[in-house]
Amino acid sequence: MIDINKIAEKIKNKISLTKAEIYEAVDSYTKNIISDEQFLPFIKAIYDYNISDKELYYLTMAMLDSGEKLNLTNLKSVVDKHSTGGVSDTTTIIIVPICACLNTKMLKLSGRGLGFTGGTCDKLESFKGYKTDIDIQQAIQLVQQNGGCMLTTSKELAPADKKIYALRNKTGLVDNISLIASSIMSKKLACGANIIVLDVKYGNGAFMPNKKSAKILAKKMKRIGEYANKKVKIVLGKMNQPLGYNVGPKLETMEAIKVLKGEEKSNLYHDSVRLASICVSLDKHIPYIVAKHKVKKVIKNKTALNKLKTMVSCQKGSLDLFDEDYKTPTLIIKSNKKGKVISFNTKEIGNIVAKMGTVKIEENDTINYDNGIRTFHKIGDKVKINEPIFYIYASSTQMAEEVGNKLKKCIEIK
Ligand code: URA
Ligand code: CA
Repeated sequence: MIDINKIAEKIKNKISLTKAEIYEAVDSYTKNIISDEQFLPFIKAIYDYNISDKELYYLTMAMLDSGEKLNLTNLKSVVDKHSTGGVSDTTTIIIVPICACLNTKMLKLSGRGLGFTGGTCDKLESFKGYKTDIDIQQAIQLVQQNGGCMLTTSKELAPADKKIYALRNKTGLVDNISLIASSIMSKKLACGANIIVLDVKYGNGAFMPNKKSAKILAKKMKRIGEYANKKVKIVLGKMNQPLGYNVGPKLETMEAIKVLKGEEKSNLYHDSVRLASICVSLDKHIPYIVAKHKVKKVIKNKTALNKLKTMVSCQKGSLDLFDEDYKTPTLIIKSNKKGKVISFNTKEIGNIVAKMGTVKIEENDTINYDNGIRTFHKIGDKVKINEPIFYIYASSTQMAEEVGNKLKKCIEIK
């Protein structure tokens, strides 16, 4: 049997691990030959002492090879976009239909909410009836038919990551750049796209606290992708406030629709245009500025909006949300002073909304799609006294009041 302690000792002493050693460690754990306790020293050693880029590549490949890989060669060129998580980040639901209109194909596998960040799958399911768990052959067919498809991640892709991620979560070993890079890239490489756009956010609403750490993470992911012969483009973005104005699955989906209707020109709009333009530009080998012109056009003439409707219908989702407007909130929080918005505690806003039942904590939890909050300002905006700063949509007035009291502390007005 594999001697994990010996491998951990090598990492500690900076002695290079072979590909075979890394594969054996990951395989033994994934196949339950060794227990959590037996495997943990390996992850802990990487967390404490780090490994080289080459070793990190082997670790990623071992995680990738633990499961299935999607074969998308029938689709020729396919682009994947991954955002590293944030608050009010609904770019996927905006970008996929835009790219689909411009014949840049995307087969987008998305996850559930994680910690303080909402999940694209949960947002998609706020279209009543929307099936996120379609099988991959059907998804490929939908990409052929519509140019894009959004569904949930498959259990068969990178199962080693699922186990290792759960172990890291349980033992407090999440926030290590190498472990994050291998976790994300093992899943990205399993998805079969030839072009990967990585949207790495940093700031008080992201996993990476500052630009420096975001750059290191981005570089590691890019290098892994290039070892694997993929075209990888990095986009760094600041997240010191919610990206859009809404936080909560259904509210965010409604905002995505408004962006595609051309009614919202917030940071969410600008980020989506930027990312979609990069995807199209790389896929079609055209200058960014030309791609951007095309992207703006399919928003303006509503082709992207209609594409999203088609995509939602094809996955049995109701189109009711396309005609709905925001409802009256349970509670309105007003500013008790006049001034300018200085900062948001973005992560805390994400946590508060997650605790309103919008993120699954246990496997059997049900999600409350309707709960969440709306904001009305971005950093630098002026606020009048008694002007609404938060709308709260909650299951009860008691919940709304509790949330309101916490939210008041998440915005600084001076
Ligand atoms: N997202 C992932 O998929 N993995 C990590 O380790 C962190 C964020
Ligand atoms: Ca996400």
